[in-house]
Amino acid sequence: MNLEIKKLDSPCGAIIEEIDLTQTLEFSEINLIRKAWLDNHILIFPNQKINDDELERFSLCFGEFGEDPYIEPIEGRKHICAIQRLATEKAPIFAESWHSDWSFMEVPPAGTCLYGIKIPPQGGATSFANQHLAYQKLPEHLKTEVNGKYAVHSAAAGYAPEGLFGMDELEKDRSMRIIVSDNARQIQIHPLVRRHPETGEKGFFSCFGYITGIKDMPADESKDLLLELYQWQTRPEFTYQHDWKKDMLVLWDNRSLLHRAHGGYEGFDRLLHRTTIAERK
Ligand code: SIN
Repeated sequence: MNLEIKKLDSPCGAIIEEIDLTQTLEFSEINLIRKAWLDNHILIFPNQKINDDELERFSLCFGEFGEDPYIEPIEGRKHICAIQRLATEKAPIFAESWHSDWSFMEVPPAGTCLYGIKIPPQGGATSFANQHLAYQKLPEHLKTEVNGKYAVHSAAAGYAPEGLFGMDELEKDRSMRIIVSDNARQIQIHPLVRRHPETGEKGFFSCFGYITGIKDMPADESKDLLLELYQWQTRPEFTYQHDWKKDMLVLWDNRSLLHRAHGGYEGFDRLLHRTTIAERK
């Protein structure tokens, strides 16, 4: 089995065109896609006219469904969320800060699939930052500083009642089905730099935002370090900005990337369906 994987001229990402995701994939194809996913961090499948069943079937080729603790699924599905914004909506852009999806969970998800349904004619890109590369290029003195440190993760700033989605007046206008909960105040500790669970490659895991502090470090010191790292982790030389087209499916690796959404499409609807892929047990 041969599958053409066209690497992008960027720090991460590859395109796979000669495949029809309305059809069940062979094991050999799944294995090739998985390898390409781990090697390139983001895979882009343009021109796929898939429905929700086919999106779910594709996602399940790469692991079980992961949990989405703070977004309600769409009507009639347990595992598909709508990432959406209406043309008239005034609420802030969802996920505009860099993050790794649900990094505050005990076992954060391995990956995410996002499928373009309504794509605005301008704006609405998604950017990705390669965290293996960001770590490789980190000056040695900073590597010494970050290695062995543990990051404290929490969803509170977003999803707790006093967080962004709970408090902001404009949230009443949001069309996405966000869940605000006291549970968002729970914390979880992960190594600040960790080895990728499948490839063993070292990289930063997540960033300031979902990371709220460094274990055993005073709050102001850890904030300074996390902000310095945030600037580094998201430098343009580590990032790729993905421009969407309708019927495009993107699969990314949450363990090696940060990502963020962009605005710039006021007056136009944007709708993508998202599935979350759990880490392998
Ligand atoms: C997300 O973080 O899943 C949303 C990305 C986007 O809307 O571009």
